[in-house]
Amino acid sequence: MQVILRQLGDCNIRRAGPSDLISVMEINLKTLPEHYSDYFYESLLAELPEAFIIAEIGGKHVGYIMCKTEFGFSNFKKLGFVKKGHVVSIAVVEEHRRKGIGKALVEESVNGVKLRKCDEFYLEVRCSNTDAVRLYEKMGFAIRQQLNAYYRDGEDAYLMAIEL
Ligand code: ACO
Repeated sequence: MQVILRQLGDCNIRRAGPSDLISVMEINLKTLPEHYSDYFYESLLAELPEAFIIAEIGGKHVGYIMCKTEFGFSNFKKLGFVKKGHVVSIAVVEEHRRKGIGKALVEESVNGVKLRKCDEFYLEVRCSNTDAVRLYEKMGFAIRQQLNAYYRDGEDAYLMAIEL
């Protein structure tokens, strides 16, 4: 059964299931230069379904966010070892941007990683991706590091993080 987490007008925000993965891959191919194997999508869904969220309008997928959890050094506390949620990828199709869907996806994934008792939530984003950086800043994420040549094409990433 599909549990709707929230509605934004005609857009349903809900947890993803296995039958959503093909559409998620299609949105990823259309919107981002970083792509993943089928197995990777399946493993993220199996590992952290609470934070694999999709947005759907009239039965059509228009956005997704998918995440994982990790243990590692804190992005806030010196020498702290913490449990972290990690946003692997988020995207909203172009025709439905600036309607609050990205914000809702991030908020629901925050709820999801909190259920797994994560202390922090972090992500990497291209330094040139000002739309996404603004979204994350609006959600309370702060730039904690600049990662030199993080992407295959040589672009730097910002590591942005929030304490939960
Ligand atoms: N210009 C300025 N501010 C923006 C923009 C923009 N184009 N887009 C988002 N924002 C900021 C604003 O503060 C906005 O609030 P406001 O509309 O009240 O001013 C806030 O973010 C929330 O915007 P949403 O409407 O919720 O965001 P949207 O649904 O448009 O999704 C997203 C944002 C996901 C970044 C979208 O632009 C997208 O899919 N881009 C292409 C894929 C991408 O770059 N993904 C992120 C890669 S990094 C990673 O995956 C970890």
